[in-house]
Amino acid sequence: MGSSLGAALVAGDHPVRWVPGGRSEATRARADADGLSAASDLASALGEAEIVLSVCPPAAASDVAADVARAGYRGIYVDANAISPDRGRAVAAVVEAAGATAVDAGIIGPPARDGARTLLYLSGPEAAVAEVAGRFAGSTVEVVALDAPVGAASATKMAFAAWTKGSAALLLAVRALAETEGVVAGLDHAWDLMIPHLHDQLRRSATGSAPKAWRFEGEMLEIAATFASARLPAGFHAAAADIYGRLGELRDNTDAQLADVIDRLV
Ligand SMILES: NC(=O)c1ccc[n+]([C@@H]2O[C@H](COP(=O)([O-])OP(=O)(O)OC[C@H]3O[C@@H](n4cnc5c(N)ncnc54)[C@H](OP(=O)(O)O)[C@@H]3O)[C@@H](O)[C@H]2O)c1
Repeated sequence: MGSSLGAALVAGDHPVRWVPGGRSEATRARADADGLSAASDLASALGEAEIVLSVCPPAAASDVAADVARAGYRGIYVDANAISPDRGRAVAAVVEAAGATAVDAGIIGPPARDGARTLLYLSGPEAAVAEVAGRFAGSTVEVVALDAPVGAASATKMAFAAWTKGSAALLLAVRALAETEGVVAGLDHAWDLMIPHLHDQLRRSATGSAPKAWRFEGEMLEIAATFASARLPAGFHAAAADIYGRLGELRDNTDAQLADVIDRLV
């Protein structure tokens, strides 16, 4: 996702630097293909940067912000990760303490490639939000500037993914239960007659989640924290985190099918 956002910026003549230290060959190959420039280290990447865009696994979001703050960065810092609004506000406090201006972001949709629809929700100080939105003007990324403080863009992302990834996890758990109880044929029969679209949805939930479930686990925990903080039941998404956690060994396996997923679940 991060590389695709970078490509959208490069296409609009905004140079993008990234930091290869500690990253994999796959990340380097994406960055090269997308025309991003490798910086020797974080300090030189930040040198003349006006905007920092953090797009990484949710569990790394706070560390990335702390590293950037420690380097004394004073420009605009955009956290675009799938994190709870509370964590978004904490990230903002860390970078603001170093003199930066925090903008909260939430990405909805697939990576910004091949005519895909990628929405970038932004919230925070109006001038900084406008500055970030301006860089994506005319690009493949559709910016939605919310007239709301830091936390609102993350909350939008949490609410959206609570349904999409939460319902996918529930469907997989339902199928695993039917397998365990030996009633797949009975459930299939009932779905055929009553809710036939679930067959397709189940298959897509399995093949779509398997390679990325390791990352979805953290995202579900962020969503559970978001519900808890809103004094709503957090258990749905805590369970979804458990479900995705069981699929961790299918990481990057784009050939995994429904049967492979159910195997891991049961
Ligand atoms: N993919 C989507 O469709 C989508 C949609 C909406 C939102 N998002 C959000 O975008 C973010 C990234 O998701 P993704 O799908 O792009 O994940 P991804 O394909 O796994 O890529 C994550 C990137 O972050 C790098 N990374 C890992 N740990 C890091 C750290 N400590 N510091 C800096 N970089 C680190 C990884 O590098 P190495 O692997 O080389 O270590 C990799 O290049 C997540 O917050 C996700 O919720 C993604």
